[in-house]
Amino acid sequence: MPRKNLHIATFGCQMNDRDSEIMAQLLADDYQTTDDPGKADTVIVNTCSIRAKAEQKAFSLLGALRKYKKIKPEMVIVASGCVAQQDGRKIFSRMNHVDLVIGPQSIYRLPELLKQTKEKRKKTTSTEFIKSFTIPPFLPTIKNGLPHKRFVTIMQGCNNYCTYCIVPYVRGREISRAAEDIVAEVRHLVDHGIKEITLLGQNVNSYGNDQKGKLPNFAELLRQVAVIKGVERLRFTTSNPKDLSDELIDCFVDLDNLCSHFHLPVQSGSNQVLKRMNRKYSIESYLERVEKLRRARPDIALTTDMIVGFPGESDDDFAVTMNLLETVRFHASFSFIYSSRPPARSCEFTDTITDEIKSRRLACYQARQKEITMERHQEYVGRIMEVMVEGESRNRDGQWCGRTTTNHIVNFNSPERLAPGRMLEVKITEACFNSLRAVRVVD
Ligand code: SAH
Ligand code: SF4
Ligand code: F3S
Repeated sequence: MPRKNLHIATFGCQMNDRDSEIMAQLLADDYQTTDDPGKADTVIVNTCSIRAKAEQKAFSLLGALRKYKKIKPEMVIVASGCVAQQDGRKIFSRMNHVDLVIGPQSIYRLPELLKQTKEKRKKTTSTEFIKSFTIPPFLPTIKNGLPHKRFVTIMQGCNNYCTYCIVPYVRGREISRAAEDIVAEVRHLVDHGIKEITLLGQNVNSYGNDQKGKLPNFAELLRQVAVIKGVERLRFTTSNPKDLSDELIDCFVDLDNLCSHFHLPVQSGSNQVLKRMNRKYSIESYLERVEKLRRARPDIALTTDMIVGFPGESDDDFAVTMNLLETVRFHASFSFIYSSRPPARSCEFTDTITDEIKSRRLACYQARQKEITMERHQEYVGRIMEVMVEGESRNRDGQWCGRTTTNHIVNFNSPERLAPGRMLEVKITEACFNSLRAVRVVD
């Protein structure tokens, strides 16, 4: 039994979720995890820097840990993730109770760095980007984590430099992982009963481009993973529309276990704004991709990310963003107020939008999206859909929760206990704002 306690707090995207799992596994010989930071010998705060608010949250949690360290001076506090990469040693001057700062590329060195920090009783930083870095082969433990679905990282970093975005600065250049390692990890997971796999990267569509000729492209990789016996559901995230190839769209025709959901962040409905964002596609080409995807997979659910209040966004620009909502009728959107993130290039743009207008636009966008989401949900009422069981609902007895291929959450009653990962059919009876209600179809 490991003797020490580890607490990990994770902010940000699924890449960070997966990195936290990897860190917990790397330390599993010595540490068991705890939900209570007060009981921990080591606390890791895995930070996100995508918007100013995310960064503030990370610092406020790091700050709150000071009180534990006062009581327990031997506690080791680690800052990891994107804020750690961005601020490096500077974190020590702001938070002198932090002991170790590591960037996303250094997580695999965590045990060694932690040992070094403790033995030398010296603050340590590891935030260098290494040119020759490769994502190592890594087989996840099965006992920690969800029993039915897992993330598999296929690449790190981003080369796109969208002008608002900090990711290329904090995650470095795109590095694709060896296809054999990805396939081996997926095999290992399904051999242990995992049924759903989500392939992860900041821009999965450009998988393989950094090692052309040596690696398959993303569509080829998807096919290699889809044929692995036991992969009942396959998903991926995230995609930049500029790299969405016909070859990838064809996968939605051919691969039955590829789920009918596509998260395709558009960021704005205005070509002028997209240009200044350096997104490298037009709304016309985005709509053409959407149409082709819908032809390939008529039941596909589309979701997106949207930024409002980007510098220079005029009333007309915002009006065409609202029009895009009507044209595409996304099943859901993640929408954000633009946040200036130095050194991302848009922080130099001077034609900024007032906070009041930004908030008004966000509220307007979200209100309309909420209605469209509800209308979309109503389209499912009366239909029979297959769900993968996620688990028992937290709130009510006898209530179970599953997910459709379109990534909708469905709540239904079941007198018998259901194992996560089990597939069953339900009939949708009611649309709610965040989920669907259903009854089981008895087979
Ligand atoms: N790699 C993904 C995006 C990851 S970040 C992609 O290209 O789609 C997730 C989302 O955060 C982005 O899609 C964007 O909508 C939002 N975002 C990124 N930088 C932002 C900023 N500076 N201000 C507001 N939202 C931002
Ligand atoms: Fe950021 Fe653009 Fe890269 Fe996505 S594609 S991570 S938004 S730079
Ligand atoms: Fe945040 Fe870093 Fe992910 S900035 S969104 S945790 S890549």
